[in-house]
Amino acid sequence: MSDSEKTFYITTPIYYVNDAPHIGHSYTTILSDVLTRFHKLAGEQTFFLTGTDEHGQKVQQAADKAGVSPQEHCDAYSKRFKDAWGELNIGFDKFIRTTDPEHIAYVQDIFRRLWDKGRIYEKEYEGWYSVGEERFFTEKELVDGKDPISGRPVEKIREKNYFFKMSEYQEWLIRYIEDHPDFILPDFRRNEVLGFLRQPLNDLCISRPKSRLAWGITLPFATEYVAYVWVDALFNYQSAVAGKKFPDGSPIWPADYHLLGKDILTTHAVYWTTLLKALDMPQPRHILAHGWWLFDNARMSKTTGNVVAPMAMKDKYGVDAFRYFLIREMVVGQDASFSEEALVQRLNSDLANDVGNGLSRILKLAATGLESRLTPVPSDGEEEAALKKAAGDAVTATLEKVKALKLSFAIEDTLQLIRAVNRYLEVKAPWKLAKEGPAGKDKLNSVLYHSAEALRIGFSLLHPVMPAKMEEALTALGVGVVGSNPVALSPLKWGGYDYAKPLGQGVNLFPRVETEKPAGQKSAGGPGGGPKPAPADPFSLVHLKVARIEEVEDHPNADSLYVLRLKVGEEDRTVCAGLKKHLAKEELRGRNVVMVYNLKPANLRGVESKGMILAAEGEGGKVIPVMPEGAVSGDDIKAADTPFEPKADLTLKEFDKAPLTVQAGIVRYRDRQLNSPKGPVRAQAPDGTAVR
Ligand code: MSP
Repeated sequence: MSDSEKTFYITTPIYYVNDAPHIGHSYTTILSDVLTRFHKLAGEQTFFLTGTDEHGQKVQQAADKAGVSPQEHCDAYSKRFKDAWGELNIGFDKFIRTTDPEHIAYVQDIFRRLWDKGRIYEKEYEGWYSVGEERFFTEKELVDGKDPISGRPVEKIREKNYFFKMSEYQEWLIRYIEDHPDFILPDFRRNEVLGFLRQPLNDLCISRPKSRLAWGITLPFATEYVAYVWVDALFNYQSAVAGKKFPDGSPIWPADYHLLGKDILTTHAVYWTTLLKALDMPQPRHILAHGWWLFDNARMSKTTGNVVAPMAMKDKYGVDAFRYFLIREMVVGQDASFSEEALVQRLNSDLANDVGNGLSRILKLAATGLESRLTPVPSDGEEEAALKKAAGDAVTATLEKVKALKLSFAIEDTLQLIRAVNRYLEVKAPWKLAKEGPAGKDKLNSVLYHSAEALRIGFSLLHPVMPAKMEEALTALGVGVVGSNPVALSPLKWGGYDYAKPLGQGVNLFPRVETEKPAGQKSAGGPGGGPKPAPADPFSLVHLKVARIEEVEDHPNADSLYVLRLKVGEEDRTVCAGLKKHLAKEELRGRNVVMVYNLKPANLRGVESKGMILAAEGEGGKVIPVMPEGAVSGDDIKAADTPFEPKADLTLKEFDKAPLTVQAGIVRYRDRQLNSPKGPVRAQAPDGTAVR
């Protein structure tokens, strides 16, 4: 199956150095590693890039806080990522840092070329600048002439900045995405980007004055400015491979896959693509946005303290069990829920029961039936023919699903083969043959050989996901492993190996993890099936309705609250809302909003409040109610493909189990958009903003 003419270049986002590696970073990086290893298995030439994003305000602030220079801070944090990837057995080809001198020179050259091509212009901007928030506000956003967030004074600043003529590429980009249906994956993400592009595209501010931010790449044509950190960062995908070639001499760029989380899709699908177009450079072949790992159905966040430390999981359950869980549990593109209980369940059911079991049976029995190694024994039995067919089917199905990026289902196809081996061993009962002495020896050897052959193929297919454990397993079967590519020595073909090496002894690949109560009910995955959704969908309990704001009053006892008089269809409702800091009364009066209709009533400082208005955090922390486009008061709002079983007196805690976020300007529960009968619920807020 060698396909050495094919090449495969894959990238992860480069990670900010103001955070320690967490499960989100680990997932993308492990996914890239697994895909790279599968492509290697198929005989392709591969290049896998990851690294760290080291410039910008946040890094400068973190360094100042720690009392070290930005470079020292970056060195320490970048190393944490690199070390983490070593521990997770990630086989990247290059780890780029945006502070590498080669990268800096490359980015400066790009800016020079964009400037020479007339793709950049300068513009004066005047606005109210808040030193505390380090950003501009418009006159309208100010509250009593002050910064609406911190309440601190603002200064009027006139500032010159440089802009990339991104708007000129809007039409081109729409057409490009339409003409290349698999450019942005999965499908629904592509539609979101197209939806985003229906609104006018602005030019992109690509500079920051050094007076405000010094930690960046100096612009070659304006040395008192640094590059906007996203432009600097995106070009890592090219600077890392500039001048590099695959062994056969073909160039590495363009990338086959940029892997990234859905929250940074716009920067890749819009900024990156238009910058490349402006430079007449080839586009990457695919941009793949994966979902988020949620924790108890809520988004991970440092403030709620539910950040999953990958190293802790790895230390507790092993690198390969952790890798396996992440790849098996998440359907690429969808969100998935992380829980330690589900990980243990997977480990016990798939790994200890299925994968580890067949091998340990063979090794135990081999000691009684054979010299020290397996001997190929041909057989024309029906069960043997079925096993051979199962192996061939598993290879085809697994590799096809990998190609379609359905890794979770690809693993399931391989497991079918391994389970077939276990069933075959049950039927053939070799432990009985072993008791027959020399009379049963040939039969015993045949059963062992056929089981081993099927397992060898199964283990090779699982190798990209669990390289260390599968190398151990293959070695135990007497198969050598060369250069971390099992196929180099033992092809994915029945009868492809002669088992010249001795068998291992006493190997227990995946010991069962004992749990207090039997792990089971809660976790995903049924016999033979792909991953299943969590049992009860928390959003099904929520009742959202469109309400019209009739009147807005100040709360008598709370400075930050308004008392809103609402009409919900024919019904009158009163709701207290913390919008006073963000919006004037006249901006709310007469407006349609979305409310949580079945929320348990609460007494807020003497005012009975029945329901809650949904709002998103807009630019600079400004809170803005979401917009039910075209809907009328009383309309129900539902999430696509989600059951609707509202519960009376929903608690806030129950509501928080169904986190809502903004993606491409639309409010979503997980990946599903919220709709009224007239259309989607919108919010003008950056991707990933929480709605509550
Ligand atoms: N530095 C930018 C990327 C620049 S690429 C040219 C950045 N860095 S980051 O450190 O914030 O890492 C972001 C990556 O981690 C994104 O792909 C994001 O989706 C991913 N994750 C962060 N939390 C996540 C989860 N809870 N689950 C899955 N991935 C998530 O953005």
